[in-house]
Amino acid sequence: MISGMKLIKDKFTFDDVLLVPKVSSVNSRWQVDTTTYISDRIKISIPLISSNMDTVTEHAMAIAMAKVGGVGIIHRFNSIENEVLEITRVKREQNIIIEKPYVVGKDFTIGKIREMVNEKKVTSFPVVEKGKLIGIITRRDFEFEEDMNKKVSDLMTKDVITSHKGISLDDAKKLMYKNKIEKLPLVDKEGNLTGMITSKDVKLLDGYSKASKDKNGRLIVGGSIGIGSDYLERAKSLVEADVDFIVVDVANGYLEKTAKVVKEVKKLGVSIVAGNVATKEGVLNLKKAGADCVKVGIGPGGACLTRPVAGVGYPQLSAILECARNGVNIIADGGISKSADFAKAIAAGADAAMIGGLFAGTDESPGVVITKENVNYKFYRGMASINAFSDKALKTEEAADLEGYTPEGTETLIPYKGSVLKIVNNLMGGLRSSMTYLNSKDLVEFRKNAEFVLLTDSSKRESKYK
Ligand code: XMP
Repeated sequence: MISGMKLIKDKFTFDDVLLVPKVSSVNSRWQVDTTTYISDRIKISIPLISSNMDTVTEHAMAIAMAKVGGVGIIHRFNSIENEVLEITRVKREQNIIIEKPYVVGKDFTIGKIREMVNEKKVTSFPVVEKGKLIGIITRRDFEFEEDMNKKVSDLMTKDVITSHKGISLDDAKKLMYKNKIEKLPLVDKEGNLTGMITSKDVKLLDGYSKASKDKNGRLIVGGSIGIGSDYLERAKSLVEADVDFIVVDVANGYLEKTAKVVKEVKKLGVSIVAGNVATKEGVLNLKKAGADCVKVGIGPGGACLTRPVAGVGYPQLSAILECARNGVNIIADGGISKSADFAKAIAAGADAAMIGGLFAGTDESPGVVITKENVNYKFYRGMASINAFSDKALKTEEAADLEGYTPEGTETLIPYKGSVLKIVNNLMGGLRSSMTYLNSKDLVEFRKNAEFVLLTDSSKRESKYK
């Protein structure tokens, strides 16, 4: 060996191994608890995160992921305003409190109310006078009224059941049920209207008991920043928009600048995920800079070209094994193409897995469905592909040297798959099954009980691995 050169042997990825089964008292897949943490503050009930890629996660994907208990990360390949808008759309999706309900005055006519119903698509209005709640008018009050000139004050309910802003979801539900009301206006001590809770929103939230929610009952969402010139402005804007955590997203998480950005953005008081790295040294470096969670994966992704272009990388299962248990949470990012890969990534020590290609091509991923020879597709591309690079320059008004750029990502059409929820179910079904085989009722036990066996070529064939 040339002096100074080190050869690291025997590193593995998902298809090189299988998990060894154990005698198990966990008899059903539904007995297992898959709760996990991204940071001390961010708890999710399924360890799945949709990638911050522009063909994977905008608000629709982030909403779908958070509703089922995972989380989505809005990509940064757009203007700051657009990223903020996407975050805001997620945060507004399931708010049990409508902060600024549409209100009416007591002299409004029923004709005007009918117009508002058509225009605003709401059917109940608190009636206010100088900010104070004096009544409520709901569909039942005016539905069959024929005189369009009648005034709100003639038909409204004056004796309104109200509550205050600090009311819990459970108490709001009880109060609404007991009084058979569908709207619960909230007032302050002076009787000023401060918000409204609707039974529709409460029911919706109930339907998603596992949803990832912040302390105000809103869905959780992550935002992302790079290390280019706008990183601090972008981070501050995301924090102002109430983002739950920020991903410092850099293909090469080993750059000194990455750690510097983590250190600086951490001062904003938000949880930080940083990456990507693939070795213990890289994890410790980002942990020291202040990261709450580190993204692991150099080149395993389906659209990644870093390995063939730069010759740099680390087999993903070994990367996870070495990066886990270093006193900081980790996310396995890239290369998960089936539920077995997902289960192995979590068993190896990842707190959650980030998914790109598998979630692309779905109803919830950005972009339109393209039909080619009667088959439907959606577009998926690596964020270091040539078109992503040039689009980013257009959207963020950054200068881009297209001639001098060597892409490290591919672009492809992938078959349209329908809802992402089917894919989430398949992945979670695989993980739950794996947990029962490993006698694990939660992810702590799963990691503790995990033992991998290395496969020969013929065992790979027997396992249906190519
Ligand atoms: P999967 O396998 O789930 O991987 O599609 C998603 C992850 O791939 C990374 N990514 C890239 N890596 N060049 C790369 O080398 C790229 O252009 C690229 N785009 C995305 C990223 O970590 C993502 O979460």
